[in-house]
Amino acid sequence: MSAQIIDGFEIARQERERVARETALLKEKGITPCLAVILVGENPASVSYVTGKEKALAEVGMKDKSIRLPESTTEQELLKIIDELNNDKSVHGILVQLPLPKHIDEEKVIMAISPEKDVDGFHPVSVGNMMIGKKSYLPCTPHGVLVLLKTMNIETNGKHAVIVGRSNIVGKPLAILLARKEANSTVTICHTGTKDIASFTKQADILIAAVGRPNTITADMVKPGATVIDVGVNRIPDDTKKSGFRLVGDVDFDSVKEVASFITPVPRGVGPMTIAMLMHNTLEAALNTLEEK
Ligand code: GUN
Repeated sequence: MSAQIIDGFEIARQERERVARETALLKEKGITPCLAVILVGENPASVSYVTGKEKALAEVGMKDKSIRLPESTTEQELLKIIDELNNDKSVHGILVQLPLPKHIDEEKVIMAISPEKDVDGFHPVSVGNMMIGKKSYLPCTPHGVLVLLKTMNIETNGKHAVIVGRSNIVGKPLAILLARKEANSTVTICHTGTKDIASFTKQADILIAAVGRPNTITADMVKPGATVIDVGVNRIPDDTKKSGFRLVGDVDFDSVKEVASFITPVPRGVGPMTIAMLMHNTLEAALNTLEEK
């Protein structure tokens, strides 16, 4: 029997709808959540992500303070803009789209964002708080994966979650979140140094692919009945498309769906959840200022 497809598009739509309702209530109290999205350069994938974020902000009724900067922007110029946004009380969240051009130190930029406005959850203070289970902005993609599992009533307690990929944005934070008491999974992280990845993935009740390479997970690597979450977003050439490409994940969807019990598609799986959780974090950031008053 073929796996049940997890409809990330629909679950994200419901999440945005909830955020929109709460945003409307907050606006009645005189606060309109505002997110500053900074894009440096014109990386096509980044332009597409940022456009998606801007669209979602409008849809949930939030203010959008988009800043698009040329590729030639210096690190100092970018840090100055972040400093101004840190001090701007009308701005609740700041997001700098990654990757940045090579001449800009990403770590320095992330460190410059005030932790109170770090809706990406990338600042070391946010990461540290997440690690020890204190309140913090959770990174959007890992948080989105947790919401997908919860919404589909997929048990995580006592399950073995195997994550392939150890990025700071997805693999590592997801491992922490799944190992925390609330999810209570046993977690294995596989990476480029792992010998015989399939021997681990075959043990997974929940298998998460976050590598950035098509067909990394094939049917022979999946335990029958497993839940497979595909975080990969890869552009592959496709002449039949107007854009000249199509999106595929890290999982060989067609074969793996015959083995798994649940699977996320690409597109319309994890991707829309990232933006929905960003809206959630921006709302949180605005609500936090209410508490300060
Ligand atoms: N680039 C890829 N994913 C992300 C994300 O979640 N946030 C930011 N800022 N950049 C990204």
